[in-house]
Amino acid sequence: MKFFVDTADVAAIRELNALGLVDGVTTNPSLIKKSGRDFKEVVKEICSEVEGPVSAEVVSTDYDGMIAEGNKLAEIAPNIAIKVPLTWDGLKACRTFTGEGKKVNVTLCFSANQALLAAKAGATFISPFIGRLDDLNLDGMQLIQDIRQIYDNYAFETEILAASIRSANHVSESALAGADVVTCPPAVLQSLVKHPLTDKGLADFVKDWEATGQKI
Ligand code: G3P
Repeated sequence: MKFFVDTADVAAIRELNALGLVDGVTTNPSLIKKSGRDFKEVVKEICSEVEGPVSAEVVSTDYDGMIAEGNKLAEIAPNIAIKVPLTWDGLKACRTFTGEGKKVNVTLCFSANQALLAAKAGATFISPFIGRLDDLNLDGMQLIQDIRQIYDNYAFETEILAASIRSANHVSESALAGADVVTCPPAVLQSLVKHPLTDKGLADFVKDWEATGQKI
């Protein structure tokens, strides 16, 4: 499973990248706002930090606008994945970009039928939003399972990118459900290491070792 980091915080990306944990990065307009930085500048910096795909999102909602913006984004670096929304115009833009050999991440996916359309449009990635479905008491993880089954039934090559990840359980459940990629906020990625029994076990080992009076 690939790990993408869902952030526009370059320092956080750098730290996780040093551990070999960053297979790619996803950004969106809200994350750019949170960074407080210039969109193109921060995306360019991220693209130079990581080898994998870096998703940068268009903000136009019509086809022509998405094409114009997507082309500008693609000029930033060869590892840009153009992020388009799961709308009719977004699917059309996806088809155009894919035909030109550009990587496309179709975002804001909330149903299996939407994912099916994105695969038909040749998306590189489909981004189902787990957390936002769970927020409505719907089953985000069931959506990942459904998309996995549909894509496998027809050998679609679109990669399932589990997004809107809010917890460590979302990560392991996405892996079990067969997502190809999970994109996590840095804090969630860091939380994967935590287990109280690891902390307790380590504290016991340190204490017992000190009692031996030995040194390595
Ligand atoms: O990758 C999409 C993600 O950033 C959305 O997450 O937590 O805003 O639903 P969230």
